[in-house]
Amino acid sequence: MRRLLLTLAVLAALPVQAEDTEALTAEARMQAKALGTQLMGVLKKSIEQDGPEAAIAVCNTQAPEIASALSKDGWHVARTSLKIRNPENQPDAWEKQTLKEFEARKQAGEDPKMLEATTVADGEFRYMKAIPTAGLCVTCHGVALSEPVTARLAELYPQDKARGFNVGDLRGAFTIRKTLQD
Ligand code: HEC
Repeated sequence: MRRLLLTLAVLAALPVQAEDTEALTAEARMQAKALGTQLMGVLKKSIEQDGPEAAIAVCNTQAPEIASALSKDGWHVARTSLKIRNPENQPDAWEKQTLKEFEARKQAGEDPKMLEATTVADGEFRYMKAIPTAGLCVTCHGVALSEPVTARLAELYPQDKARGFNVGDLRGAFTIRKTLQD
């Protein structure tokens, strides 16, 4: 009896069951996709209309706005990287570790588009999905940036580290978290 009670107590203390994690992962994937799609829409439109220098300012205001609009019902939606542009996107310990693991998994031959990780810690479900660098991205994150892009970045992001990327490199990751109910 005692053992049974102990087992039950241990089971009840388990924060999330496997099936919950699956459902949360599915939802987190949708959140990451929504953030990616919305950012890409804004980015493409403003580059086409006004050029990349102007699009930097659009990214500067729209990227945090889009992320915070998606952050509801207990979810928190953001992006991070080992080389950040906006200091607000600084990775924490788990994010940094996961970004390094993504790099290692890519080196080992995994498809960069498929790299994902999840964890449950400190009452939170967490999910990350890698973001590979595409052709469009190197205009503002590449090795050789144009004069106007460099000037605009210097104004808005004096501590910018998010450059020097080539197509196919991992640029960063979507990072999604949800506080779990007790
Ligand atoms: C027009 C210039 C521009 C282009 C093109 C661009 N970005 Fe960015 N990117 C920015 C700016 C500006 C920020 C900072 C946004 C902010 O303040 O939150 C940023 C931030 C990011 C971040 C968040 C982490 C960080 O460094 O702060 C990621 C990830 C990212 N970009 C990935 C990409 C990818 C992938 C592409 C191509 C699909 C891309 N970017 C294309 C300007 C650009």
